[in-house]
Amino acid sequence: MDKILLREIDSTNSYAKKNMEILHDRTVILAEVQTAGRGRLNRVWVNLGKGNLFLSFLLKPPVAVREHYTNLTQYLSVVLTDVLADYGIEAKIKWPNDVLIKDGKIAGILSESVFKGTKFKGLVLGVGVNLNASKNMLSLVTDKKITSLNLETGNKIDCNHFADKLVERFFRTYDNFLNSGFSFIKSAYCSRLSNLGCEIEINVNGQNMKGIFKSVTDKGELELLHDGQISILRIGDIL
Ligand code: BTN
Repeated sequence: MDKILLREIDSTNSYAKKNMEILHDRTVILAEVQTAGRGRLNRVWVNLGKGNLFLSFLLKPPVAVREHYTNLTQYLSVVLTDVLADYGIEAKIKWPNDVLIKDGKIAGILSESVFKGTKFKGLVLGVGVNLNASKNMLSLVTDKKITSLNLETGNKIDCNHFADKLVERFFRTYDNFLNSGFSFIKSAYCSRLSNLGCEIEINVNGQNMKGIFKSVTDKGELELLHDGQISILRIGDIL
């Protein structure tokens, strides 16, 4: 495993994508400060500054297991909840891969694929975790409910220590995950899901749908019961 530590960068995901061809499989890119972080669905990932985690995994998994690529974000969300458990925190997962503590988002995950022409070059799995922030700062940066680990534990968090734990935990079972895919994490993932069995409203490609979050398929998709029928959703944003 290679590790690259950057003092300041626009986005660790962009850095990984730009350098995909020259970096090895399983390179971890970490930045102390990230000035133009990107989130899911073209959103911005707010820069909470030094002391927070901005990390990307650069991965070149075999094409033979490509059906498991999309579930890597869910694998990482499970790994994150394991790491948070070591800090005494019971975190939940909001489908597909946000990590929450008492309804406040503490971490977000963004996966991006890199192609040269039609040839698959690799994947970038980026994760941002709010580790050290003040209540005031969080309320200024967004109107959404977010939280940070220092506020939840009452202690300042050592960012490097958290990163080491996350990386070690991620690679400990990464090969098992690649071989088996979502089934490897399904029971852990489902046991940590928020909203399962509840009525939800979900935005899918700009359209809102309401229904009951029935279950998760063997591929990690969301089964929504609405108007007497089941829709299987691969993407979406629970509101
Ligand atoms: C989301 O919840 O919308 C996903 C946020 C992902 C943020 C991380 S921070 C490190 C990496 N670099 C980026 O530009 N984005 C991801």
